[in-house]
Amino acid sequence: MSEVAFREAASDELGPAVLAQILDLGHACWPEGQFTPDDLDHALGGRHYLAEVDGRVIGHAAVVPRVLEVGGRVLRAGYVEAVATLPRFQRRGIASRLMTAADTHIADAYELGALSTGEPSFYERLGWLRWAGPTSVREPDGSLTRTPDEDDGVMVLLTPTSPAIDLASPITCRRRPGDAW
Ligand SMILES: CC(C)(COP(=O)(O)OP(=O)(O)OC[C@H]1O[C@@H](n2cnc3c(N)ncnc32)[C@H](O)[C@@H]1OP(=O)(O)O)[C@@H](O)C(=O)NCCC(=O)NCCS
Repeated sequence: MSEVAFREAASDELGPAVLAQILDLGHACWPEGQFTPDDLDHALGGRHYLAEVDGRVIGHAAVVPRVLEVGGRVLRAGYVEAVATLPRFQRRGIASRLMTAADTHIADAYELGALSTGEPSFYERLGWLRWAGPTSVREPDGSLTRTPDEDDGVMVLLTPTSPAIDLASPITCRRRPGDAW
């Protein structure tokens, strides 16, 4: 089998062909209809961590900047999106390697890492912590909408510039099209 090549790139360095491959990867890795064009949009605007075989994307993770409110304090967060490995390449450490690079970037550039997942144990192995407090979305009019379905899925990664954080305090993201978290 061909070797897996790893690289990272900013979103504006990726051409349309690679973006189409990331969308295809999402379609292959999540149940039908779950990885939407909004999900691809959410992964744009920051850095991408790519695993490729014969020039095709078989693994991906992205880190994008987001503003989060944590216990009433506004933080610059590196938000992880679109983490996936093509099924036939899974369980070989590919996503762990991509996430380790993503985590290093978050530690260098952000006050906190954050993500929403249905696979918390995968991220716990890498040092991510499960959020224990209530999750909400800040609407454009400034009001808050609780997101109870997300309470079990939000995780954070502390960085050298993280303030003291109470994992049981409220955490809030800004409204965006598609899934807020
Ligand atoms: C989750 C996912 C990205 C893992 O990719 P991967 O390349 O297989 O991950 P790794 O090989 O680095 O996994 C390392 C370890 O994490 C653990 N792990 C992997 N997938 C896991 C999962 N779905 N749940 C819990 N633990 C998992 C395993 O213990 C594995 O260790 P092992 O090698 O001893 O078995 C992949 O299963 C995937 O694409 N899933 C569908 C999309 C998804 O759920 N993305 C993440 C949620 S946002």
